[in-house]
Amino acid sequence: MQTATKFFSADPDGLTARDEALFFGALRTGNATFKRTDQARLRTVDAALIECLDRANATVDTALDLGISSGVTTAELAAALTQSGHRVRMTGTDRSLAARIVDLPMGCRALVEPTGHVLQYEILGRAMRPWTRRLDYLTGMALARTVVNRTLAPLARAQAVSRQAGNSVALVSPRLAQSDAMRLIEDDITLRNPALVGGFDLIRAANVLNRLHFQPGSLLRAVENTRSYLRGPGAWLLVLRTHGDTDHRGTLFRMGDDGVLAIVERWGGGSEIEELFLDKRSQST
Ligand SMILES: C[S@@+](CC[C@H](N)C(=O)[O-])C[C@H]1O[C@@H](n2cnc3c(N)ncnc32)[C@H](O)[C@@H]1O
Repeated sequence: MQTATKFFSADPDGLTARDEALFFGALRTGNATFKRTDQARLRTVDAALIECLDRANATVDTALDLGISSGVTTAELAAALTQSGHRVRMTGTDRSLAARIVDLPMGCRALVEPTGHVLQYEILGRAMRPWTRRLDYLTGMALARTVVNRTLAPLARAQAVSRQAGNSVALVSPRLAQSDAMRLIEDDITLRNPALVGGFDLIRAANVLNRLHFQPGSLLRAVENTRSYLRGPGAWLLVLRTHGDTDHRGTLFRMGDDGVLAIVERWGGGSEIEELFLDKRSQST
């Protein structure tokens, strides 16, 4: 894994998709989700979605991708829609897009979310993740991480919260950050964003909404918010979770004239939270 300092100061054209996947895949956000988006991981779903849109002779002018992580799969969806004839304006949102690289004692640094949650340490020019995995208990790295977290996390947090220190960076693919073809918004799906209400012909919530990382109340709010961001009758919603690398389990809905979502297609048995989207009318107020 590269350090944040190196990654964000590199020439974007010199970064490979693998560099990006390795870097973002190791960032565990404040609500315990990973900023993981491997290139092309949703390509088969993109193709299946476009087939459904074509079959219905649908037009998609505005699309919203929720929980975009590094934005790689968002850019791919935008490209796939454009190639199939939709003149789409894409918006990507994520709870955590902004971060800061802050200086710490002894030449150390940390990549920190605005809340103070540490995403990565830089120690002696090497990247270190703050979170532990089982193997770390065998190698002794768990202890090292505990010591580093206890020592450096409060200092990093204090700097991040002051919002003055360090350099701000956007936690998206540097190639995407340079592009003005896409609107990127930092947004928490559990909080209604009036600027998004009623705005989209197509919404994708891929690998963001699940029962593991959201309390039941927050998940329901996220579901209601997502529904309210649909433009209205005829709008499309894809809710999806990928197990492993390629086991996509998702449901494609379309809003009827009565504001109720109906299932158009299921992949891999459907979304595990499918029923939360059913049987309710759009509540856009
Ligand atoms: C596993 S990534 C999914 C990336 C991409 N959609 C995909 O499937 O390849 C999950 C993303 O959801 C974001 N996320 C988690 N909770 C969120 C919330 N409450 N609101 C918006 N985004 C959230 C995380 O920051 C992370 O970037």
